[in-house]
Amino acid sequence: MSGNDDSQFATAAAPARHLSDHIFRLLVDQVADYAIFMLSPSGEVTTWNTGAQRIKGFKPHEIIGRHFRIFYPPDAQARHVPEEELRVAAATGRFEDEGWRIRSDGSRFWANVIITAIRDEHGRLMGFGKVTRDSTEKKRSEEQLRQLSHRLLKLQDDERARLGRDLHDTVGQDLVAAKMSLDRLISNRRLTTDDVRQHLKDPIFLVDNAIRQVRTLSYLLCPPMLEEMGLGSAIRWDLEGFTKRSGIRAVCDRCDDVRLPREVEVALFRVFQESLANVHRHSRSEVAHIRFFVEDHIAVLEVQDRGIGLPPSLSEPNALALNKAGVGIRGMHERLRQIGGQLSILSTPPGTTLRATVPIEPHDDPSQTL
Ligand SMILES: Nc1ncnc2c1ncn2[C@@H]1O[C@H](COP(=O)(O)OP(=O)(O)OP(=O)(O)O)[C@@H](O)[C@H]1O
Ligand SMILES: [Mg+2]
Repeated sequence: MSGNDDSQFATAAAPARHLSDHIFRLLVDQVADYAIFMLSPSGEVTTWNTGAQRIKGFKPHEIIGRHFRIFYPPDAQARHVPEEELRVAAATGRFEDEGWRIRSDGSRFWANVIITAIRDEHGRLMGFGKVTRDSTEKKRSEEQLRQLSHRLLKLQDDERARLGRDLHDTVGQDLVAAKMSLDRLISNRRLTTDDVRQHLKDPIFLVDNAIRQVRTLSYLLCPPMLEEMGLGSAIRWDLEGFTKRSGIRAVCDRCDDVRLPREVEVALFRVFQESLANVHRHSRSEVAHIRFFVEDHIAVLEVQDRGIGLPPSLSEPNALALNKAGVGIRGMHERLRQIGGQLSILSTPPGTTLRATVPIEPHDDPSQTL
């Protein structure tokens, strides 16, 4: 009885399944936003939809039967990237990638690609499904955003340097002149009585204080020793002030006195300042250890604390890429990226270690000449 029911169901279901297969094929054929097509196990194109034609420019009769390596730039073809992608997809079931691909007219587009291995019920590889999205616009916007942030960081550096110099050369000089006049006045017994001298003590103290503050501020904005004596000196000078201001015992375990190209020194100094600010604001650590050295054509800056560690959202390996960080970390990341460097922030219990690395051209590498 139940066998009969099954067979009736099977007979009724077959045309329905046939119809839904047909509708599904129509759907895939007509999708225009995604290139959706199949590859044979060895990589020849076997189906082609409207989206594939729109994105890649080939008509079905121009592409079906040809190997899909034709979509890759020559250097990727030479490195056997397409074959490698199929190998990974066959081994793991799936491969995802982003990169430049070539249209039929030779123009480039930025593609987001997913390749899925398709196997029959016995596990035999039948081919691959490939879904490609044209993300050129997104890529362009990201590039524009990068250029904008590059310009902003550069403007910020120039503006800080200008403010630092102006403060030092205008307000700073006026205060020093005012202090000299007050000193002359207080020591001139012909002009001042004891009473006046007593009254002068307060303004002299305040002017002294203001001179110190302006000096610190102008040095923080534009450390003169960075330009004159290099990053090692600037770090040592900054650490003294930082320890006084924050109460955190910041020590330089290794600070090499080496000179690097100006843009590298400025970028690493700003990274150093931001990471110390983070130690102060977020870590609750009582100490900070700094290391700066150049080895094997790589400049390395490390700032390590023994505090509470990173929040879980930032402990993921690709948290930077996922934009989970704040402006500070993203700014450091961007500064380093612009000079070919890298930033990593690691949980090193107890606490956190920030590590910035920048490759140095051999002729700029001080460790090779010392
Ligand atoms: N040394 C550290 N110890 C613990 N958590 C940290 C440390 N450094 C950064 N963080 C965490 O990373 C987050 C992001 O830091 P980021 O510097 O990007 O932004 P922020 O300091 O919060 O703000 P700002 O944009 O002003 O720098 C912080 O909010 C904090 O939770
Ligand atoms: Mg910060």
